[in-house]
Amino acid sequence: MVLISGNGSNLQSIIDHIHAKKLDARIAAVISNRADAFGLDRARSAGIEALTIDPGNYPSACDFDQKLARTVSRYEPDLVVLAGYMRILGAAFVKRFEGEIINIHPSLLPKYKGLNTHQRAIDAGDREHGASVHFVTFELDDGPIIIQQQVDISPGETAATLQQKVHKAEHWIYPIAIQRIVTGEVSFNRL
Ligand code: GRF
Repeated sequence: MVLISGNGSNLQSIIDHIHAKKLDARIAAVISNRADAFGLDRARSAGIEALTIDPGNYPSACDFDQKLARTVSRYEPDLVVLAGYMRILGAAFVKRFEGEIINIHPSLLPKYKGLNTHQRAIDAGDREHGASVHFVTFELDDGPIIIQQQVDISPGETAATLQQKVHKAEHWIYPIAIQRIVTGEVSFNRL
């Protein structure tokens, strides 16, 4: 099960790795909180069920969360993969799927949790930046780290060029992280 909000390039990388038989998984469905997410088209093109659950249609964040949890449960996924899902999951959702939710974040965690990570790394004068895949816990961008990939920050680097580098690293490490969970090499309780 993959949750997205936008472009879905990480989703695409996961799909491509499955097709190339480098990742031994099946995507039960893709859920977006935005109807205009391009990742929904990517999923449908790959023959994967794709649906939108729009928070605007629910009276409260809690109602939305319950709907999301019920929908995800229906597919009985082994893993919930957040791939550019730009909404904070409610505590009830995290508790229900604890140890079975992973996220990709564009920084070398624990540095730069939250947004604008590329600009923040440049502004801090860092020489390196990167991406991390981690299990999701109640704290934002904070769970046990499964894999990280570092990229260099070159002189004259802009947030846009750095974002491209980090994206490339993300596309490389996310399928690897999932495969490690699939094989049992990594699990929430053993990190
Ligand atoms: C990625 O940079 C990911 O780290 C962040 O959101 C972005 C999603 O990109 N959480 P995409 O939708 O997979 O192209």
